[in-house]
Amino acid sequence: MRQERLRDPYGRAVTYLRVSVTHRCNLRCFYCLPRDANSVYGASLLDLDEIAAVVEVAASLGVTKVRITGGEPLVRPGVAGLVRKLGQMPEITDLALSTNGTLLAEYAGELRAAGLMRVNVSLDSLRPHVFRAISGRSDLPRVLEGIEAARRVGLGPIKLNVVVLRGVNDDELAEIVAYASAKSLTPRFIEYMPMGWGRRWQDSFVPASEILDRIRPLLSGAPPHRIPGDTAVYYSLRTGGDVGVISPVSCRFCDLCNRLRLTAEGRLRPCLTREGEVDLTPALRPRIQPEAIAQLLRAATASRPVRGSYASPPRAKPMAAIGG
Ligand code: 5AD
Ligand code: SF4
Repeated sequence: MRQERLRDPYGRAVTYLRVSVTHRCNLRCFYCLPRDANSVYGASLLDLDEIAAVVEVAASLGVTKVRITGGEPLVRPGVAGLVRKLGQMPEITDLALSTNGTLLAEYAGELRAAGLMRVNVSLDSLRPHVFRAISGRSDLPRVLEGIEAARRVGLGPIKLNVVVLRGVNDDELAEIVAYASAKSLTPRFIEYMPMGWGRRWQDSFVPASEILDRIRPLLSGAPPHRIPGDTAVYYSLRTGGDVGVISPVSCRFCDLCNRLRLTAEGRLRPCLTREGEVDLTPALRPRIQPEAIAQLLRAATASRPVRGSYASPPRAKPMAAIGG
C-alpha cells in the first residue's frame, strides 16, 4: 500500500514537524520575550509521551524531520528521553534541536548519546555587553562553551542563528562570520519578525537586502543556492563555507514551506504568520487516539494558507510560545 502523505491544497507536502516542548526560556531576548515573561506562563503542557505519540503519527504520514524547540527546550527536564524515543522511529531521518546554547555544555553528550543528530544555536552577538543588552543575561561564555561541547560530541553540522537588529548587532556581522568560519559553523542571519512580545520592531528591523549589502565584501560572488527544506538562501564565502540569509518578512518562502508546528500546550500551528491553531488535546486526553491525531494533522495541513504575511504586525503570540 502506498503510504499516505500530508499534502496541503496547494500541493505542498508536510515532511517537517517543529515540536516546542516549553514556552519557558532562561534568556529574555527583547525581540522575543518581555522581561517579566513568567507572568504569561501557565497553560498545561503536553507530557513527553503525548509529544512522542504525535510525532509517531506524523511519521506515519510522511514526516521525516523533527526539530525540538522552545522557548529554550533544554530548560524542560527529560528532553534527552524524548530525543531517545523519537530517535527510535525509523521514519525520522533528521532529528535536530534549536537552542540558545546556555545549557548545551551540560547536555550535549547526553543528547548525542540519546540520538540527537545536530543542533542550531542562537547567538546574536559575540560582544558580552551586546549579548547582555539583547538577552538580559550575561551568559555569552556559557553559550560559547555550549557550542564547543556540541562540536566536541559531533552534534553537527551546527548552524548559528543570528537575528540582525539595527543599532544593536548589525555592525558585527563580519566578526560573527569569522567566528563561525573558524569553528566550522554555518552562520545564518535572520530578519527580525514582528512577533508577539517583541519590542522595538520598527526601529530594529533590518531587511535582508541590507544584511546582504553588509556581508557582500565577504562573499565569493558565486550564485546563491538553497537547500531543500531550508528557509535560508546560502551565499558562499571567500574563505570557504557558506553564510545563510533568512528573510521571512521581506521575501517570504511560502512556496517552500514543508512544516507544521506543535506548540508546547498541544496545538498545531499551520502557519507561523497566522494566529489559527488546531487543538490536539482532545485526541490525547483522556487517552491517546492515533486515528484522531491523524485527522487533526490532516486538518491542520489542509488549513495552511497559500501565503502567509506579516502585513499587520504584530502577531499576538511570541515566538517562544510557538517554537520559532
Ligand atoms: N524574529 C526573528 N527570529 C526570532 N526568534 C525569536 N523571535 C524572533 C523574531 N521576532 C528566533 C531567533 C531566536 C529563536 C529562539 O527564535 O532565532 O534565536
Ligand atoms: Fe529565549 Fe530564544 Fe526567546 Fe531569546 S529568542 S528569549 S533565547 S526563546
